[in-house]
Amino acid sequence: MNDIHDAIAAEIPDLPQGPWALLGEGLWGTVHDLGDGTVLKLVRRNGGLGTGESKHYRETTALALIPQADGVRLPRLVAAGRFANAYGFSGPPLAGWLRLEKLDGRPVDEGGIYGLRGEERERLGEEIGAALAHFHRAGEAIAEDAAKLGSPALRSISEAMMRINDPVLRTRLERLKEVIAGEDAPRIFLHGDMNFSNVLVARGMRPALVDFAEAGVGFAEEDFRHFDNPGPLRDAVFRSYAAVSGRGVNELRFRMGIAVNAAVSLALGSNAGHPREGMRRVSFLDEALRRAGIED
Ligand SMILES: Nc1ncnc2c1ncn2[C@@H]1O[C@H](COP(=O)(O)OP(=O)(O)OP(=O)(O)O)[C@@H](O)[C@H]1O
Ligand SMILES: [Mg+2]
Repeated sequence: MNDIHDAIAAEIPDLPQGPWALLGEGLWGTVHDLGDGTVLKLVRRNGGLGTGESKHYRETTALALIPQADGVRLPRLVAAGRFANAYGFSGPPLAGWLRLEKLDGRPVDEGGIYGLRGEERERLGEEIGAALAHFHRAGEAIAEDAAKLGSPALRSISEAMMRINDPVLRTRLERLKEVIAGEDAPRIFLHGDMNFSNVLVARGMRPALVDFAEAGVGFAEEDFRHFDNPGPLRDAVFRSYAAVSGRGVNELRFRMGIAVNAAVSLALGSNAGHPREGMRRVSFLDEALRRAGIED
């Protein structure tokens, strides 16, 4: 860790002395607490689907565009840059870095949700739904400028298709792209990766949203694509989203998002785990496509 610290400090201006606590590590890199109210996010060149360079571009562009909003906490972008030499460090090759305001709270623990009392779970769902509605509202003003980031759903399908060879599934995924592109619904600024690990909660505060690497423009329901688990939590999220935004969740468009997510899961997981796991992902995608109106 020490040599990466030294190598990075030479390339990024004004970094505080380490050691820095590791706040998170995902497929695409690491997030470090710099101890001065900011965090450093290092983005690798390679991770899952797509490229680290495109993720870095989207996240810096999105953060520069998003206005601060009432009802949801969003990190301020302090500085960002690309690494001229991706191989200048001891770890995996790096595409770029972002320095962000550190927000209070912990990511929502998806496993822990089921240990919550019913009313706590409902309240959490309501807070998340309301925060997303506030975020979408704040994004209305920048949807036009954000259009250059593209559609998270269409991009995800294309990325997933790089690893899906089955001709029948490919035809259906092309069809899903056409249907999503043709939907008659307002296009708004989207977070693009609304899963629980990207929501930070702290007592007495509104939820915070982090991780804008998949941001873009599309219809609102795309931001619910990780909410495939039915149950009281999802009901609470949808209910408060509708109440705060004044717009209900369209079920068919929601199912299109679930199908996009199923395609991504299949593409990411196809080489991993037991073959039975792969078969389960194929049948999940098959069913998700059918439920989105894309028959085979
Ligand atoms: N601005 C921030 N303030 C406080 N904590 C943060 C902030 N940004 C990120 N974190 C912490 O770091 C974790 C990972 O951050 P982030 O989601 O941006 O990257 P990632 O998960 O590695 O990316 P990916 O989701 O593509 O794998 C978050 O779950 C959160 O705990
Ligand atoms: Mg994340």
